[in-house]
Amino acid sequence: MTPDLFDTVTEPGTPWVEPLEPGAMVLRQFARSYEAALLDAVRRVIDQSPLRHMVTPGGFRMSVAMTNCGDLGWVSDRTGYRYDAIDPEAGRPWPRMPAEFSRLATEAAAQAGFDGFVPDACLINRYEAGTRLSLHQDRDERDHSQPIVSVSLGLPAVFLFGGPKRTDKTRRIPLAHGDVVVWGGPARLHHHGVLPLKEGLHPFIGDCRVNLTFRKAA
Ligand code: SIN
Ligand code: FE2
Repeated sequence: MTPDLFDTVTEPGTPWVEPLEPGAMVLRQFARSYEAALLDAVRRVIDQSPLRHMVTPGGFRMSVAMTNCGDLGWVSDRTGYRYDAIDPEAGRPWPRMPAEFSRLATEAAAQAGFDGFVPDACLINRYEAGTRLSLHQDRDERDHSQPIVSVSLGLPAVFLFGGPKRTDKTRRIPLAHGDVVVWGGPARLHHHGVLPLKEGLHPFIGDCRVNLTFRKAA
């Protein structure tokens, strides 16, 4: 390996693409250049619409704490899952989607081959040690031709990525601070989840993982 090439490969913050399968890929470190703006924006959103543990239609309290920003927010309660323009806890619209959020999501989607992606919903998930997200599909959105863009911040996690059927084999993908997963096209309805988070301390985020999931819901 030449010294030049070595420098290029190891330079911190240089993103690279890791294909998963048709329609799905990890953009490693893609969010690093946005991180200061993202963290600021996350704090502003959480001030207005605090993280909360939603209840599943079956009556279970979700271990992942969630909030939203954008025109629509994903909500779960005893009546089911839905997108809602109103934060039911605050009784007012969700905070606006910060400009740096939309820019990151549109650029990541384009990098992954999905031009013109404009998210109207951003779900913010906070995982603490031991918290997991069970295997599910993102299917509450109207237009499945639009991809999902998922940004990892803070502690590392293991992402599970399966197939169209719940019982399909899953692969385990380690995700680090700044990694962005994009899935759409033939992979749009693939099952995915997150294994229980390991304890740790991230220099910028602390003892948790924060995930931003961008979607075109309406
Ligand atoms: C989700 O599927 O909503 C979140 C996935 C993640 O936290 O990486
Ligand atoms: Fe999901």
